[in-house]
Amino acid sequence: MTHSVSMHGSWSSRWVFILAATGSAVGLGNIWKFPYMAGEYGGGAFVLVYLLCVAMIGIPVMMAEIMLGRRGRKSPINAMRDLAEEASQHPAWAAIGWMGVAAGFMILSFYSVVGGWALSYVPEMISGSFNADTSKESAGAAFDGLIGSPTTLTIWHTIFIFLTAFVIARGVEKGLEKAVKFLMPALFLLLLSLVAYAMFSTDKFMDGINFMFNVDFDKLFYPKGDGQFSGEGVLAAMGQAFFSLSVGMGAIMMYGAYLPKDTAITPTTVIIAGADTLVALLAGLAIFPIVFANGLDAGSGPGLVFITLPIAFGHMPGGIFFGTLFFVLLTFAAWTSAISILEPSVAWLVESWHWSRKKAAILCSIAIWALGMLSVFSLNILKDFHPFVAGQTLFDNFQYITSNIMLPLGGLLIAIFAAWMMERDAHHDELHVKNGGADISYKTWLFLIRFVTPVGVSLVFLSAIGVFSV
Ligand code: PHE
Repeated sequence: MTHSVSMHGSWSSRWVFILAATGSAVGLGNIWKFPYMAGEYGGGAFVLVYLLCVAMIGIPVMMAEIMLGRRGRKSPINAMRDLAEEASQHPAWAAIGWMGVAAGFMILSFYSVVGGWALSYVPEMISGSFNADTSKESAGAAFDGLIGSPTTLTIWHTIFIFLTAFVIARGVEKGLEKAVKFLMPALFLLLLSLVAYAMFSTDKFMDGINFMFNVDFDKLFYPKGDGQFSGEGVLAAMGQAFFSLSVGMGAIMMYGAYLPKDTAITPTTVIIAGADTLVALLAGLAIFPIVFANGLDAGSGPGLVFITLPIAFGHMPGGIFFGTLFFVLLTFAAWTSAISILEPSVAWLVESWHWSRKKAAILCSIAIWALGMLSVFSLNILKDFHPFVAGQTLFDNFQYITSNIMLPLGGLLIAIFAAWMMERDAHHDELHVKNGGADISYKTWLFLIRFVTPVGVSLVFLSAIGVFSV
């Protein structure tokens, strides 16, 4: 069955795929979410579990996704249906694609709101509102002012989703290639210089290191300090690994559909996952020393990056320039991720309903925009509306359901399909396995994807619903 290219086009080289997939992986998840999650769950133990999940679950699932995408050469819903047919399995495996589309809509709805925050900090930085007088109080007040205003949030959310739809309407390759080639390396360099700032200009760099790498499982397993075990922290770390790597919902599968046949999947995946992890760790190393140097609370939640970094920019030489640049680059990182979240749905509409890319991009983004308004309002007028879980807003619910349930569940199904349903010949073909399957990297992957991933994800799910109460 294997098609040589997809109807939507293909990447011009392996490097373009690496850039696009890294563009998808590196985003708000690394710079906004990872530090505040690590802060909330007490640091080191969370970071360790996160790293284990990336290595043992995230990387094997990412390889499987790229493999399935390239073999299917269509949007995840259609690719999974074709692959199920090829492997003589039930067409219901297309549910992986459907759940991915649902997860994508939900993720992009809140992601666009936070992307809007990043965008709004660009003019805020240029205007010089953060300067030597900036304190933790004034930086906190600026952030609270932003999220307290439904109008301001709506404006930025609208602009962000429009930017995303715009690139998708034009076709992914044209816009994306340029954006990721220069902007990703620039973001990386800027993060490195922020780490250098944290190292030399705060005297709390070691505190930051200790917080991130000193493993104290009590904080992760007994978050309330009352001796009551909770699997929530482990689930949050696993969910964060899925979210950060963009796996479990078909975004990477979609990009895999555009991958040339001769590209080696294993090293490519390791590069993407490595870059993603490095960016998350650098973000933590830049942020936590600033948190401790200013007496901020590491567990203060979603505002963490938006409050800490403006303090640092306010006090450093050339802060206006670097601060502006940082938020421009953060916006680009969010943008390239958002594009990958929208692409599977749009590609499916183009394939199955024969809509133009433009029409599909516009209608999907209007629906997502409307859903995103729930997140906008849950930060202000619906702040105390906690319909599902005590103390959790709708914005929190969206994040929780997608990262902690839908993505790991999608990853679990992808793993089961790739490991147990697909023919070995298909693996050998896509992963370029020679020697009749004796290849060590293939054997490692097969072991991880057959046993470690399904068992790992299931155990974490069970622990979070309280099956193991130790
Ligand atoms: N990986 C992106 C980030 O870290 C978010 C994302 C999730 C993108 C799921 C695609 C799919 O910001």
